[in-house]
Amino acid sequence: MADSRDEPLVLGIETSCDETGVGIVRGTTLLADAVASSVDEHARFGGVVPEVASRAHLEAMAPTIRRALKDAGVSAKDLDGIAVTAGPGLAGALLVGVSAAKAYAYALDKPLYGVNHLASHICVDQLEHGPLPEPTMALLVSGGHSSLLLSEDITSDVRPLGSTIDDAAGEAFDKIARVLDLGFPGGPVIDRYAREGDPEAIAFPRGLTGPRDAPYDFSFSGLKTSVARWIEAKRAAGEDVPVRDVSASFQEAVVDVLTRKAVRACKDEGVDHLMIGGGVAANSRLRALAQERCEKAGIRLRVPRPKLCTDNGAMVAALGAEMVARNRAASSWDLSADSSLPVTEPHVPGHSHDHDHVHEVSKENLYP
Ligand code: KG4
Ligand code: ZN
Repeated sequence: MADSRDEPLVLGIETSCDETGVGIVRGTTLLADAVASSVDEHARFGGVVPEVASRAHLEAMAPTIRRALKDAGVSAKDLDGIAVTAGPGLAGALLVGVSAAKAYAYALDKPLYGVNHLASHICVDQLEHGPLPEPTMALLVSGGHSSLLLSEDITSDVRPLGSTIDDAAGEAFDKIARVLDLGFPGGPVIDRYAREGDPEAIAFPRGLTGPRDAPYDFSFSGLKTSVARWIEAKRAAGEDVPVRDVSASFQEAVVDVLTRKAVRACKDEGVDHLMIGGGVAANSRLRALAQERCEKAGIRLRVPRPKLCTDNGAMVAALGAEMVARNRAASSWDLSADSSLPVTEPHVPGHSHDHDHVHEVSKENLYP
């Protein structure tokens, strides 16, 4: 590419959990978002089984890549780069994506970008609402993470203001759904039942909201226990559990705390917008309450459409395209999956800013 702000064409691969996602973007424009999910294979175990997920990624990878290229109407040789989730996530599942990305990048002679799954959940909003403001205040809520993040530049600088001290928000949804026998994953089902329930039926606790508590940290473990005990007590008394009211009241406790703390962080830091990303951002009540509270506080809300909130390949491609546009170093061929990659590392760079040089050195490393 002649100019760094030309719109780079990037393919992104996501395999950190149970979705095999392959997305293709041109700059901040979404061209394809192909997802193959192994969620049905995990449902009977009540959670994601790592080995099952890895095998499913392996089987779905090549067909999903072909489908994405076909949907986008582009040829692999025209790509400016291949991005892949390097972490955090399930080690074996990540490894399938990283290996596939290396193989395609090497065979096609394209630069490889190992990127952070969490930063991708934020960057994906560029596909929906255009370039992210700088700084960006982001509430990241997924199955494994719940954090408030301030980012000056999504490719290089992500600073956590606070995060959960125990369960992630999505994890709490999944666990309560299990107690209610609603299946896995729990978020979407609870969201549905809650629409017909009363959010004020049961007063569940709001964790870490006292005057002396850390203002931007979250805790959902106490809430989870409280909801489980309430359900147990009903069952022990031989009474029916009002699933809709429990769902609505539990969900309200989660989204009340998330939105309250996010709005406060924006005000404290003087940031006039809020981005919400990650699987839980698909929650209808979280979206509605965030909208209401942001409007009241004069804050502009950015939340991608639900399909871009849950895991997908387009988010990885979006961050990869931003890496290319900003001339970030490509990853070296010894890129490895890092199951606990910290949120503060948006990408896993190589040893050189010169792609050709990276190729040269790495080929020697591969075939000494
Ligand atoms: O980001 P994501 O797809 O995967 C991870 O990176 O973890 O998030 C998955 C989480 C699961 O816990 C799921 O129950 C939750 O997002 N989730 C929801 C909704 N849709 C997905 N939680 C609440 N309401 C939803 N509509
Ligand atoms: Zn995710």
